[in-house]
Amino acid sequence: GRMEVAVSFISSNYDLVTTINKIENTDADYIHVDIMDGEFVSTKNFSPIDLNLLLSNCRKNLDVHLMCVDPMKYVNALSNLQIKRVTIHAEISNALNIIKNIKDLGIEVGIAINPDTKIKLLKPYMEIIDSVLVMSVVPGAGGQSFIMSTIDKLKDLQNYKNKYGFKIFIDGGINRDTIGLVKNLVDGVISGSFICKSDDFQEKINELR
Ligand code: DX5
Ligand code: ZN
Repeated sequence: GRMEVAVSFISSNYDLVTTINKIENTDADYIHVDIMDGEFVSTKNFSPIDLNLLLSNCRKNLDVHLMCVDPMKYVNALSNLQIKRVTIHAEISNALNIIKNIKDLGIEVGIAINPDTKIKLLKPYMEIIDSVLVMSVVPGAGGQSFIMSTIDKLKDLQNYKNKYGFKIFIDGGINRDTIGLVKNLVDGVISGSFICKSDDFQEKINELR
């Protein structure tokens, strides 16, 4: 089917409100909300209060990426937002229970996997999750370069995808030069700086599609 595009807004040429408005005026499928807790990754960015203010009038579905050791804290604090999908990291403890708790709220669940993490770590979750988010950069910042070894991981995931029926998304360093490497191996991409560091967001999304 049509490749999904989710736009990450953490590295942009514009202020946050302008960036969100510009994304809203494109045909992007999701706004990708990167949340960093200062613990799972050393950077800490938004508080739930900030995000509720910024995103409460949003018309697009939100794809929330929790780079956090305590995902439920954020899921609960953001419950008024239009969250379509929450992605937590496979590297945190207690992931299976957290996945179940999020699913009980009627939200799709994804599991993210860092560049250095082996696919094996995903096995206990494959039956229950809706999607796998393959990280093609080390989480913590936008604007990094795509890590090439990610391609092998995407290839290795295809058999599991066919068996369990989850979707595969990729996050980090996706732009006009790297999209061709991944587009036949994924259901959708997350792209940030390529889109938000340009004047014409829709034109960049068109290039990816
Ligand atoms: C990395 C984030 C990504 C990233 C995407 O910590 O999870 O979503 O910001 O931005 P680009 O496309 O600039 O790599
Ligand atoms: Zn992300």
